[in-house]
Amino acid sequence: MQIQRIDPERPGGLLTAFHDAFAAAYAGVPGPLWSRRRLEVELTEGFPGARAEAWVAVDGGEVLGGYGLAHPVDDNTHLSRLATLVVRPERQRAGVGSALLAHAVERVRAAGRGLVLTETPAEGAGARFAKARGFTFSLGEARRVLDLRRADWDGLRRMLPEPDGYRVERWLGPAGPDLLPDLATVMNGMNDAPRDEGVEAASFSLDRVRQGEERIELTGETTYSVLVRRVADGAPAGYSRIILTGDEPDGWASQADTTVLPAHRGHRLGLLLKLTNLLWLRESEPGVERIITWNARSNAHMLAINEAMGFELLDEWNDWRLDV
Ligand SMILES: CC(C)(COP(=O)(O)OP(=O)(O)OC[C@H]1O[C@@H](n2cnc3c(N)ncnc32)[C@H](O)[C@@H]1OP(=O)(O)O)[C@@H](O)C(=O)NCCC(=O)NCCS
Repeated sequence: MQIQRIDPERPGGLLTAFHDAFAAAYAGVPGPLWSRRRLEVELTEGFPGARAEAWVAVDGGEVLGGYGLAHPVDDNTHLSRLATLVVRPERQRAGVGSALLAHAVERVRAAGRGLVLTETPAEGAGARFAKARGFTFSLGEARRVLDLRRADWDGLRRMLPEPDGYRVERWLGPAGPDLLPDLATVMNGMNDAPRDEGVEAASFSLDRVRQGEERIELTGETTYSVLVRRVADGAPAGYSRIILTGDEPDGWASQADTTVLPAHRGHRLGLLLKLTNLLWLRESEPGVERIITWNARSNAHMLAINEAMGFELLDEWNDWRLDV
């Protein structure tokens, strides 16, 4: 067995085989699956503000599994994120996952970092593997789903807050250049969400936010975005986004970041943002069946909003950490 790097310029067949292994390894896990295109962006670009690398385990021409690493470059330069580590189900329990992880740990050390973070469903092979390989629990997360086919739309419309002194604007796709500074301002509100121990606040520079918007072109995803402003001075106060896959529609929408800046909290802007965007999505994309959202299990404020909207628990995930 060899561990081979995926060339980000020409990921081709290796990436396709990685996606195949990824889809097979997660076949029993509910929820939407990253398309090949999205996986390619995750593995070759990482997340905005990071550089990425991806490797596969190959045996006799067959890809058994692989992993992706993202090394943040603007902040958190002491850690790397293991984005996906997967082994084809029929090749599991034969040491392939351990060999890939040992390789990943060497790459993390070579990048001058001493901490690896990853996540798995809270139950199952991934969690057992993480524990067996020395990872320790870092943060509990939960995924919740709102079934749009059964949602109480009249009730949701009635719930829409009308806070004095604020107005919402919305846009489809990446934000235009004029919006980037405001987006960078509101994204900093994400730093108040619970995060893993040992993880610093992220720095949302203009460049990083621009990279995030450019990434939408790469994944081909459709995004619905809303921003709320204080009317008096136009100050950006909060933001929320919903993402739809860029490939064949799969009936899923994913709730991405929602944030309200500290000075504007307590005016029900979080609910206003999420509901406005959801109602817009409903009107524009009647084929979407379900929307999924991720939260730290300890994020009481966001959970209260999600539960009021009718989101129901799908499953729990764990974040894990390993000092290397
Ligand atoms: C997690 C995963 C990558 C492990 O790959 P693998 O090749 O089976 O891993 P290994 O054979 O090296 O397993 C190493 C040890 O982990 C533990 N382990 C792995 N899978 C396990 C399972 N299903 N049940 C119990 N323990 C398990 C065992 O201690 C195992 O050692 P052993 O086989 O000698 O008992 C694979 O199950 C997978 O792709 N899962 C879905 C994706 C996922 O959750 N990835 C996140 C990984 S951090």
